[in-house]
Amino acid sequence: MTILVTGFNGKMGIEVAKKLHEQNLSFKGAVRNVEKAKRTYGNDFAFVKLDFSNRATFEEALEGVDKIFLIYPPGGKIEFYQFLKMVKEKRIKHVVYLSVKDVQFLPFIHHFKNEKLIKKLNIPYTFIRAGYFMQNLHDFLGEEIKENRRIFVPAGKGKTSFVDTRDLAEAALHAFENPADHTNKSHIITGEKAVDFYEVADLMTSILGERIEYTNPTVKEFKSYMLQKGENEDFVNVVIGIHFPTKLGLAKGVTYDFEKITKSKPTPIARYIEDYKERWLRE
Ligand SMILES: NC(=O)c1ccc[n+]([C@@H]2O[C@H](COP(=O)([O-])OP(=O)(O)OC[C@H]3O[C@@H](n4cnc5c(N)ncnc54)[C@H](OP(=O)(O)O)[C@@H]3O)[C@@H](O)[C@H]2O)c1
Repeated sequence: MTILVTGFNGKMGIEVAKKLHEQNLSFKGAVRNVEKAKRTYGNDFAFVKLDFSNRATFEEALEGVDKIFLIYPPGGKIEFYQFLKMVKEKRIKHVVYLSVKDVQFLPFIHHFKNEKLIKKLNIPYTFIRAGYFMQNLHDFLGEEIKENRRIFVPAGKGKTSFVDTRDLAEAALHAFENPADHTNKSHIITGEKAVDFYEVADLMTSILGERIEYTNPTVKEFKSYMLQKGENEDFVNVVIGIHFPTKLGLAKGVTYDFEKITKSKPTPIARYIEDYKERWLRE
C-alpha cells in the first residue's frame, strides 16, 4: 500500500507524513519542487512532483498509489476535476480529503464543489472537515506576531474552535488504517473549546513571557496595511474572507468527532503555543 500525501510542504501534509512515517506506512510526498524538498528533508521521505495546475504531472504522481491524502491548494488555475478523473480511472482505493467545517453552508467555496465531485465520481472518501488551524498562528499570522508582537487579523471579538493540524493528521491516519470504519464518511474536527483572539494573545503572552496583543483591526485597516507591506491582494482578500465568519460569531462550533475517532482529547491551544514557541521568539 502506498499513500500519496499531497500538500506535503503545507501545515497539514507534513503532519500526515510524520504520522505515516511513525507507523512505517509507505508513502510519497507530493511537492512542486522535488529537488528543494530533498534539500530540506534529506532522504527520510520519498518525493514525487505534483502540480495541480499542470496535468502532465498527474500520471507519474499517481503511479503505484493506492490511497491519497488530498488537499485543494491555495492559488488559481487548479485542474482539480482532471486530477479527480484520473484518480477514478486509476481505481484509487481511498481518498482522505481535507475539507472545511461548515462546508455544507458555503456553496461558493471550492470544498463544497470538490466534495460533490468526489461523491459523484464514486471515489471512496473520508472528508476531514477541519476547523481553523492553530498552525495559522505561526504561518500567515506569524510574521506580525514575531516582528510586531501583535496578532493582526480582522476577526473581531468572535470565537474560533482552533484545531491542531497534528490532531487532524491523527484523524487522517485512523481513516487510512481503518477504512471500513471511515469510508464514505465526513468527520468534523475542531479543538475542545472555542476562544477569541484576545484569549489567544493572553495565552501567548504568558507562555512566551512577552506581551502579545490582539489589535483587532478593521477590514479596511488590515487591507491597507497588508497591501502597503507588499502582500498579494488576492491573498489578503482570502484572509479577510476566512475571518469574516469568525467576526460574525459563526466559527465557534465545537464537535467531538476527534475524541470519537481517536479516543483521546484534542490538543489544547496552550499546548500548541508551548510546542511551537521557538517560532515567535526573536533571536
Ligand atoms: N488554514 C486553515 O485554517 C484551514 C482550515 C480548514 C481547511 N483548510 C484547507 O487546507 C487546505 C490547505 O490550505 P493552507 O492555506 O492551510 O495550505 P498550506 O499549509 O499553506 O499548504 C499549501 C500546500 O499547497 C501546495 N500547493 C500550492 N499550490 C500547488 C499546486 N499548484 N499544486 C500542488 N500543490 C500546491 C504547496 O506545495 P508546494 O510547497 O510543494 O508548492 C503546500 O504544500 C486548503 O484547501 C484550505 O481550504 C485550511
